[in-house]
Amino acid sequence: MKYRVSVIGTGFVGLVTAVCFADRNIKTICSTKNEKNAELINKGIPPFFENRLEDLLKKAIETGNLVCTTNREEAVLNSEISLIIVGTPFNHIDKTINLDYMEQAAKDIGTVLKEKNGYHLTAVRSTVVPGTSRNIVGRNLAEKSGKKLGEEIGLVMQPEFLAEGRSIEDTFRPDRIIIGEFDERSGDVLQKLYEDFYGNHIGEDCPILRMNIESAELVKYGNNCFLATKISFINELAKIAELVPGVDIDLVARSIGLDYRINPRFLGAGVGWGGSCFPKDVNAIIAFAGDKGLESQLLQSVVDVNDRAALHALELTKELIGDLKEKTIALLGLAFKPGTDDMRYAPSRRIAIEAINQGAKIQGYDPRTKESAKIAFHQDGTEITLKDSVEEVLKNADCAIVCTEWDEFKTLKPKTFIQHMNNPCVVDGRRIYDTTEYSKELNYKVVGYTTE
Ligand code: UGA
Repeated sequence: MKYRVSVIGTGFVGLVTAVCFADRNIKTICSTKNEKNAELINKGIPPFFENRLEDLLKKAIETGNLVCTTNREEAVLNSEISLIIVGTPFNHIDKTINLDYMEQAAKDIGTVLKEKNGYHLTAVRSTVVPGTSRNIVGRNLAEKSGKKLGEEIGLVMQPEFLAEGRSIEDTFRPDRIIIGEFDERSGDVLQKLYEDFYGNHIGEDCPILRMNIESAELVKYGNNCFLATKISFINELAKIAELVPGVDIDLVARSIGLDYRINPRFLGAGVGWGGSCFPKDVNAIIAFAGDKGLESQLLQSVVDVNDRAALHALELTKELIGDLKEKTIALLGLAFKPGTDDMRYAPSRRIAIEAINQGAKIQGYDPRTKESAKIAFHQDGTEITLKDSVEEVLKNADCAIVCTEWDEFKTLKPKTFIQHMNNPCVVDGRRIYDTTEYSKELNYKVVGYTTE
């Protein structure tokens, strides 16, 4: 028997997961409380941008493998497995995660399970600190359903590792599947779902690792914290490289990455990491440890080094144009990374806030974020003029800072900056230009390299 799946929550991870299941002929029903989003999804229109999502969503709706409902009860009743993929927002004040949506989802599923016959498995897919799945989700499922966990109902925690912009590929070709199980049967049911879903992909290239629930919860934090640490590490090394003229951090990083124990990914020096995951997760696990009396010295430094990486772009700017007062800075790229319109914790925001504090005016251009950027900068209380093209954003600017490595910027030649800026100065915050060519033709500074 093929399991039917309900997906509670249609944010970025929820919808991508639902669409990928449907693409592999698994009957999937997703639920959201947002009526407008449900309507869009049922018409095959994604409510946000993600590479390849539109085509797959259209297909999933046309084949009837995917439907979206605003009624959670209907979703749970029409499935054997429910995946909870709701938001776990970040409390800005105490840096912990807010589990209200998670708790509500568990209560809602538990209430439905009271009346539902047959075995039902609930899987936590959102990122939650160790103990949450058992103590909040498991407890509410059991209390509301009146059923015993590990008997009529099951519970697993399965962390997700999707990155924005490549989430469809990540879902279809994962490196591993982590199953944190309340009991053996729960793990068996989820494993069967993935054996149907992935077929031959499961094996040496993608092992299934089974463990207790809390270990699986910590795997996700370990993963994101390690990646954030790699980036902060290379950003620290980039500053050391800048102390020695002629040393190029890109070559150094590539060479370090060739060590099979390290690997070259996530060693890209620049203005630092942002997005909806690393900032939230690194801070949440620091707060989690702190709450239990353990000070996380390394991870706190990872956060501090990251903040410095964004501000470093302004130090380089000042080396080129002096004091920022009354100067106009052009930000090339605003999103936290290319391929998305996501502005959450984007380094461009940190840079803009600080530049304005120092008296600068900011204008910005991003090929995709105009709407989300407007909202983000408004939330920060940052006044920024959003432009519609590279040419426009460079006009009248005293210095341009590359904050996001969009392809559109990678192909720019020094002459574009020379043509459109008064006194062309460029800070390459994402290492996208040829340092020799740019240093020769422009006033140019780049993270991790100083000219001899
Ligand atoms: C990240 C993880 O990569 C995913 O595995 C994880 O599932 C996801 O968080 C999550 O927890 O949901 P994401 O935040 O979408 O994915 O984006 P990444 O590609 O990891 O980039 C994060 C940030 O690191 C970006 O701001 C990017 O510019 C920066 N970065 C990345 C660097 O500064 N240097 C690098 O070499 C790589």
